[in-house]
Amino acid sequence: MSKKRIAILGSTGTIGINTLKVCQHLANDLEVVGLAVHGNIDLLLDQIKQFHPKIVSVMREDRKQELTHKLQESKLNIMGIYSGIEGLVKVATHPEIDTVVVATVGAIGLLPTLEAIRAGKQIALANKEVLVMAGELVMKQAKEKKVPILPIDSEHNAIFQCLMSGTPKEVKKLLLTGSGGPFRNHKDSFESITPDQALKHPTWNMGKKITIDSATLMNKGLEVIECTHLFDVSPEHIEVVIHPQSIIHSMVEFIDGSIIAQLGVTDMYLPIQFALTYPDRKPTPLPRLNLHNIPQLTFEHPDHKRFPCLGFGYKAIRIGGTLPTVLNASNEIAVQAFLDETISFSCLPKIIEKTMQCHQTIFHPTLNEILQADQWARDTAKVIIADES
Ligand SMILES: NC(=O)c1ccc[n+]([C@@H]2O[C@H](COP(=O)([O-])OP(=O)(O)OC[C@H]3O[C@@H](n4cnc5c(N)ncnc54)[C@H](OP(=O)(O)O)[C@@H]3O)[C@@H](O)[C@H]2O)c1
Repeated sequence: MSKKRIAILGSTGTIGINTLKVCQHLANDLEVVGLAVHGNIDLLLDQIKQFHPKIVSVMREDRKQELTHKLQESKLNIMGIYSGIEGLVKVATHPEIDTVVVATVGAIGLLPTLEAIRAGKQIALANKEVLVMAGELVMKQAKEKKVPILPIDSEHNAIFQCLMSGTPKEVKKLLLTGSGGPFRNHKDSFESITPDQALKHPTWNMGKKITIDSATLMNKGLEVIECTHLFDVSPEHIEVVIHPQSIIHSMVEFIDGSIIAQLGVTDMYLPIQFALTYPDRKPTPLPRLNLHNIPQLTFEHPDHKRFPCLGFGYKAIRIGGTLPTVLNASNEIAVQAFLDETISFSCLPKIIEKTMQCHQTIFHPTLNEILQADQWARDTAKVIIADES
């Protein structure tokens, strides 16, 4: 059988690096054809030497020039080196690519994902913000083009696997698990929490943005929205369950009362590999989950009062239209402001809530209206931050 030809947008990030480990392990099944990054050309150069892609893209033009120079010095030949958003789209739509792994972070993933779908590529999606900001549009286009969107996010990948046990009309609800983040048991005020503290996730090792989202529980809010689009369920049929051990990656309850769960080690390698080998399963080099070493599996309700961002996610998708776009964009701005130490941890939800309150929702938005709402929310959130600080 011929190899599945892969492009990875965001190959130097946590998900991107893990995806390349899968490609290395399954070298007889997967071929890396395209790689795209923002500016980390040193790691990209190592990846080029190891995987010999045909096309690469570096968002920053200055970094692309540096890379071109380094490739010449190393006498490495690549058919195409691009930059900017055009570069991301070129990689995502290259004719020799079957599957695009979207592992960029934030809104930047939207246009290349839409273009990849338009070009008929299978999508393996980690970049959840794409579905949060434009889920209706992305899923509609995927349906029209008969392109599968395979979830890499561990919870959605778990639900995808659990759903194989029944038909859509047999599903009662989705049980979306989450660790609760580093501040689940934080007794003091959230005001003095530093970026360093918030970047220490108890169970997962991830990029900075998603780690902060996990600390505020905004990540779960974004995932609720992602779920509604991926699995075509209303938010009322999604229950968030805090499960601090992160062993159960999510569950599905069926109409007869059966709950099917997916368990595994806390390593993104597993959902990435499943998304790339689906519908087949292949052995992984991961350590096995040893149930005898897990003294307990516990479950709690999320604390909406201390973590209001989860509720913002539910509110945004219940109202719909451009409100989830605004939630996403204002969150991206607020997270960056917190990492830059411009706002406090407890200020983060306030920025998002105020931006959402100022927005006039447009229902069934076009791509242009989504992009305008995204820009509006970024500008508005920055003004609110300036007023707060
Ligand atoms: N990490 C996880 O365990 C995990 C789990 C589930 C879902 N996700 C989702 O997967 C996505 C990626 O997360 P991550 O943790 O892997 O993030 P990350 O470690 O921060 O990596 C982001 C990747 O995207 C690239 N990138 C960033 N901005 C870009 C831009 N403007 N243009 C082109 N490339 C850009 C980065 O390139 P440079 O290295 O050059 O900056 C890097 O390769 C996020 O949406 C996250 O929510 C992650």
